Amino acid sequence: MSGRERELVGEVFDSNFIAPAGPMIDRFEKEFCELTGHRAAAALSSGTGAMDIALRLLDVGPGDEVWVADLTFIGGASPIIYRGATPVFLDVSPDTWTLDVALLTDALEEADKKGRLPKVVIPVDLYGQSCDLDEIVRVCDRYDIPVVVDAAESVGTRYKDRHAGKGAKMAIYSFNGNKIITTSGGGILASDDEELIVRARYLSQQARRPVAHYEHTETGYNYRMPSLCAAVGVGQLEVLSRRVERRREIFNIYADAFKSLVGVAMMPEADYGISNRWLTVLTLDPTNVSIKSTEICKAAERENIECRAVWKPMSRQPVFLDARVIRSGTADDLFATGICLPSGSAMSDAEIQRVISLISKSVLAH
Ligand SMILES: Cc1ncc(COP(=O)(O)O)c(C=O)c1O
Repeated sequence: MSGRERELVGEVFDSNFIAPAGPMIDRFEKEFCELTGHRAAAALSSGTGAMDIALRLLDVGPGDEVWVADLTFIGGASPIIYRGATPVFLDVSPDTWTLDVALLTDALEEADKKGRLPKVVIPVDLYGQSCDLDEIVRVCDRYDIPVVVDAAESVGTRYKDRHAGKGAKMAIYSFNGNKIITTSGGGILASDDEELIVRARYLSQQARRPVAHYEHTETGYNYRMPSLCAAVGVGQLEVLSRRVERRREIFNIYADAFKSLVGVAMMPEADYGISNRWLTVLTLDPTNVSIKSTEICKAAERENIECRAVWKPMSRQPVFLDARVIRSGTADDLFATGICLPSGSAMSDAEIQRVISLISKSVLAH
């Protein structure tokens, strides 16, 4: 927390708007739109819920395919299953670790010939790096396929001259406790189409018709963000730019320390944007480094340092083993060789040095 959140939560107590409605939610949505440039946004209880509503708004249902980047966290993919649709996983580019545009272009051409185009395409902004959104939208526009960006990890990230996610049909963001800013738990669905967002708010509050009694012509969800969480979010937005600065600084300290280690490479930054460097991630080249990423994670754990593997590709998850995948091998390689390093904005320089020393020792000893 930055310090101001307690005061803002106090304002919610004073106003007694403890329900998932009230001025603090409106304020959070408005300030999020000011940050990102989206015309409208609906504050929700999670990023997963935001994706669920996005797919519902696009009428995704049984018989539809939804294409999604293979290298991601399951929260952005599960809603495809909630909707009864079929996920298809697409590999990522080694240059950005996000949806491979060339692969997507070829796959859409092929799917068009077979008359099996996806209903929606979901690129993912990975570890704070924006996907190449304009290119993805350009290709999808040829077939009238809407793009919903899973920007859960990229609050504060820039794509070209704008905020990540802006320019898609819709974008979802997460404020889960592990993200660069948090509302404890929460998410937001944002778009330039205000009508979609008005409908998202309605669906997120049990699809209650605006009449005096409880009237429903369709079923909705209980997905609205509580006011208390929105207050935390308003406080967090105030410190977002400092957080991005610090995360980038942390990345640079690591990158500087590892530049002389043969076989260690840092996650590349695409030249079209500025990543929030939510997580600092490195890869080990097995031709130069004999220790495996899993062994380094175990060694770190023994020293009470939390390192983690890169996301295991969705197509390799037991729950999705039957799903179709368009694979180049990049997601598999990144899972096998990547390590996410401790990257919290509150880390001290001494703590970063402890991680550097552990990684350097482990790599040099092998
Ligand atoms: C890429 C990605 N998609 C979706 C989600 C889901 O967000 P939430 O945890 O708010 O449901 C997350 C994070 O948790 C994520 O990292």
